[in-house]
Amino acid sequence: MTTSPSPAHAPTLFSPFDEGGKIGAPNRFFKSAMSEVMAVQGEHLPTQAHNRVYARWAAGGTGILVTGNVMIDKTALGEPGNVVLENDAHLDRFASWSDAVHQANPDARFWMQINHPGKQSPKFLTPQPVAPSAVPLGAGLEAAFATPKALVGEEITDLIKRFATTAGLVQRAGFDGVQIHGAHGYLVSQFLSPHHNRRTDQWGGSAENRRRFVLEVYRAVRATVGPDFPVSIKMNSADFQKGGFEGDEAYDLIAALSAEGIDLIEISGGNYESPAMTGVKQSTTREAYFLDFAANARKHTSVALAVTGGFRSVAAMETALVSGATDFIGIARALTLDPELPQHAAANPDYTCDVGRPSTGIKSLDKMFMIAVSYYETQIRRLGAGLEPNPKMSAWRAVAQSAKALGLAAFRKRRA
Ligand SMILES: Cc1cc2nc3c(=O)[nH]c(=O)nc-3n(C[C@H](O)[C@H](O)[C@H](O)COP(=O)(O)O)c2cc1C
Repeated sequence: MTTSPSPAHAPTLFSPFDEGGKIGAPNRFFKSAMSEVMAVQGEHLPTQAHNRVYARWAAGGTGILVTGNVMIDKTALGEPGNVVLENDAHLDRFASWSDAVHQANPDARFWMQINHPGKQSPKFLTPQPVAPSAVPLGAGLEAAFATPKALVGEEITDLIKRFATTAGLVQRAGFDGVQIHGAHGYLVSQFLSPHHNRRTDQWGGSAENRRRFVLEVYRAVRATVGPDFPVSIKMNSADFQKGGFEGDEAYDLIAALSAEGIDLIEISGGNYESPAMTGVKQSTTREAYFLDFAANARKHTSVALAVTGGFRSVAAMETALVSGATDFIGIARALTLDPELPQHAAANPDYTCDVGRPSTGIKSLDKMFMIAVSYYETQIRRLGAGLEPNPKMSAWRAVAQSAKALGLAAFRKRRA
């Protein structure tokens, strides 16, 4: 069990973590995964634009950078424009991506997040998605997402192997670590949820059975990459959904993954039906939505923790580190608007990055274009094109640019 450090010995944002060790991070800034949606449709490979934006983040001083979710199966995409890594046919493109980061900042650590969307794949991409059980998405998503087919035993074993295959390729391509996406309602998270997983075999029912899929994925990944390669998970503190994964089960999962030897646990929350990850479910406007959960999680693990969701100011980031609740500060949206955020934080202890609440003013349009996500995707695309972010960009412009970049797909519901 880890105890809170006394303020005199507390880490700051610029304290290295595990210096010279397996994680070996130069500081506590952790760029959380953001789907770039920049791969050419049909090709699904990283491009020069991917290289450029990650090099910019690395040069900006972020210690650990996690890619947007990379899919383990090209027949199961979460969004058009996803990167897919399922074989070594174009491994040079992935090696070029990791090189770009290491050249921009040799101290930065570059991890890849790997994912399978399960039922959170829109109908126009996957007419017949798979999931632990044939439970459709609710919350108004029924029209855009098909009712999934329940996986059979062999398909489950095959998917576990796929996670491991992708993780092995991540390592071969020169990345410094891999992260299993176990949060936000995708396949791993669907297995954990009593609402989404109604199975009665060894993969469902009790909490232990629902945990089996993620533990088997972790074991298969670890067996492939060996003991010295960092393996992480992003998991939900809770699904924020009636009948969802929550409470003690989350702490029990942390304890189980820690006992298995996982290297870092990133805490988030929510899913497409209940998007708590970006703060819309929280009643307060305070930063660090999931920090209280992390403080409790500490009692169940001595593994490194990252907390993501809501961080904007240096003051809140430093307070979180001093509290001992987390080792890393997970940041997503703020880094799209300020890729040099760590440098600005070093120069100014009063620094804060206002990520705003972009809106067209028309609720249905905001929902259709997923403004809460696509606005930041547009900023990532600007960085990828070698442009500066545009924090003053109107939501309307983000709509227009999404339409230009994604074509017809921009007008179809892609995610929550
Ligand atoms: C454009 C965009 C894409 C995202 N894609 C992913 C993803 O691929 N994987 C993931 O785990 N989270 C993803 N997220 C969620 C973020 O990692 C993060 O959990 C969330 O934005 C809250 O952190 P923030 O307040 O610092 O933005 C995405 C968020 C945004 C805005």
